[in-house]
Amino acid sequence: MTETKFLLPESAIPERWYNIQADMPNRPQPVLHPGTGQPIGPDDLAPLFPMELILQEVSGDAEIPIPEPIRGIYRLWRPTPLYRAHRLEQALGTRSRIFYKYEGVSPAGSHKPNTAVAQAYYVKESGRTRIATETGAGQWGSALALACQLFGLECKVYMVRVSYEQKPYRRSMMETWGATVVASPSEDTQSGRAILEADPDSPGSLGIAISEAVEDAAPREDTAYSLGSVLNHVLMHQTVIGQEALAQMEEAGAFPDLVVGCVGGGSNFAGLAFPFLREKIAGREIDVLACEPAACPTLTRGPFAYDFGDTGQLTPLVPMHTLGHDFVPAPIHAGGLRYHGMAPLVSQLVLDGLIRAEAYTQREIFSSAVRFARSEGIIPAPEAAHAIHGVLRAAAQADEEGRERTILFNLSGHGHFDLGAYDAHLAGKLEDIALPEEELERALKAIDALPKPAAGVR
Ligand SMILES: Cc1ncc(COP(=O)(O)O)c(C=O)c1O
Repeated sequence: MTETKFLLPESAIPERWYNIQADMPNRPQPVLHPGTGQPIGPDDLAPLFPMELILQEVSGDAEIPIPEPIRGIYRLWRPTPLYRAHRLEQALGTRSRIFYKYEGVSPAGSHKPNTAVAQAYYVKESGRTRIATETGAGQWGSALALACQLFGLECKVYMVRVSYEQKPYRRSMMETWGATVVASPSEDTQSGRAILEADPDSPGSLGIAISEAVEDAAPREDTAYSLGSVLNHVLMHQTVIGQEALAQMEEAGAFPDLVVGCVGGGSNFAGLAFPFLREKIAGREIDVLACEPAACPTLTRGPFAYDFGDTGQLTPLVPMHTLGHDFVPAPIHAGGLRYHGMAPLVSQLVLDGLIRAEAYTQREIFSSAVRFARSEGIIPAPEAAHAIHGVLRAAAQADEEGRERTILFNLSGHGHFDLGAYDAHLAGKLEDIALPEEELERALKAIDALPKPAAGVR
């Protein structure tokens, strides 16, 4: 048996983030002002974000230096380990080699601190003292609560109600790190109150929680808004994952022909995949697979269109795969994947054929997660279980075809706060939920009247 863990020294923490915008065959179409239909400029975003992040959002530079204070905090858990899944391979009896990059070793338990720390740093540098945000699974809220604490910032988190109820200890974690947490929809904002009036039992969604956080931050000079995924700069901050993985795969004497990640807004997937897509764009053959829930099948069933990033229509119009901004995904346990949209960078790369996507239901992803836990030990976050399921399918298919693949996936977080979901799975109580066609048609009516992406731009 060859090595199981491939570890890098702290000196190998990347010094730059990789900005895929510099290399894409087609850069994403502009983000539009919903009132004028015209591309927005930095000034439109200034009430919400520090200027450094706005500049990163539109930068054409391939590499952006990571400030030392951020690298200093990354040292608490980075570089993260890359594992060869020997025991999983044996349990499956596969001929393929399976590697995974494990981001669950961060204090918050996922990849999210990679961007939370960067965003808190730039907010602090801009002179603001407070950040408002949303969280789905609670992973992002925990990451930002930690980052705010480390930089001495206040943090207010709007937590999607279904997760707030399913995962009370995520709230405890955020509060331990000093954040204030409310269930969303909440009574604290106009958009929250409007939703509660229409549906007092609303399970909430990321789209609703984003509206609340944006509404909180926009009028306050001391407050920035922070998003845990979707935006270009967020995906870029995550590329430390893939850069480390490139070095670790080299140490392992291997190179993946399949790179896999789960997608909610697209950030952990992009973090691993973009540095490999850089190689693919340069001519190397790599199959890149994004895995999503059948209950929220943004890439596999949503059209590429302009849509709001939130339910309350407070954000600019973003060119992306979408299920419609008022779509409330069924309350599956992978709370971090319950988002109606998708990062514009990932959406464009799917359009351009550089990434492909598949959708899976709950029971199958939990079965794969349990198989993984019983061979590799780590209990995966339900979000990451989608990537594991994608890997198991690909390995099985390769075995059927007599092929031997080298597969690399992102294990974006652990599932220690998701044991209620595992209980339900083990007791046979989980439901398989796929989005009904009528609901998709209904939800997409919400984008009928919005501007359409330019024709001819693929
Ligand atoms: C562990 C984990 N993986 C994946 C995701 C999905 O987000 P993204 O697509 O931005 O990585 C989340 C979101 O909360 C998460 O907590």
